[in-house]
Amino acid sequence: MADKSTLREHWENIYETKTIQDVSWTQDEPQPSLDWIRGLSLNPKEMVVDCGGGRSALAEKVVESGHEQVEVFDISIRSLAQAKMELKSDEGRNAISYRVCNVLDYKPERDIAVWHDRAVFHFLTVKEEIDTYVANLKKWVPKHIIIGTFALDGPEKCSSLPVQRYDEKAIVALFHADYKLEKSVIWEHETPTKKKQLMTFVHLVHRTKG
Ligand SMILES: C[S@@+](CC[C@H](N)C(=O)[O-])C[C@H]1O[C@@H](n2cnc3c(N)ncnc32)[C@H](O)[C@@H]1O
Repeated sequence: MADKSTLREHWENIYETKTIQDVSWTQDEPQPSLDWIRGLSLNPKEMVVDCGGGRSALAEKVVESGHEQVEVFDISIRSLAQAKMELKSDEGRNAISYRVCNVLDYKPERDIAVWHDRAVFHFLTVKEEIDTYVANLKKWVPKHIIIGTFALDGPEKCSSLPVQRYDEKAIVALFHADYKLEKSVIWEHETPTKKKQLMTFVHLVHRTKG
């Protein structure tokens, strides 16, 4: 990962200069994440966290599915300001909280039931950063972890930044002492310019809490 302030500037610049149709990660329907979260049996008051959620529509759709506590955090304040402005419902405005934070500095304010990360973890390319991310999640013990990264056959870069690509086995191996694999899929994401990008999505469940 680049120096933290350079990284923040990179992402602020992206959200300042690009429309939602200009960026490759935009999806109309945030799948498979949304269906996977909808399929969990959770108390609506349990916390769902979208790591590096940017201006994804996922948070509000999770609220529409009945969840009352959703937090979105992102390194870019601009992305979160845009996400807030794009909220369609009072339910969304009441249920979603936003925080500007680098994932490596994030500290939860309450117990997390679901940790969702689509295309953020893969930006961590240095072993120490990957270890910190994994160790933090193990410490916070969310019942469910849903992670989507570029697949082994996926692009080598995302938003011009190098990424670490994963298959299911490699993600599971990082968490296997504490989490078991619930499901995984190779997801073909179609970018707004109709390019195909292969992503690996895994859903891990805590061995004792899940
Ligand atoms: C490829 S986009 C994906 C956005 C969103 N998860 C989605 O699926 O639409 C990556 C997002 O992660 C954010 N991000 C990148 N590095 C981050 C970091 N170290 N900590 C927190 N957010 C980060 C970016 O600002 C951006 O919003």
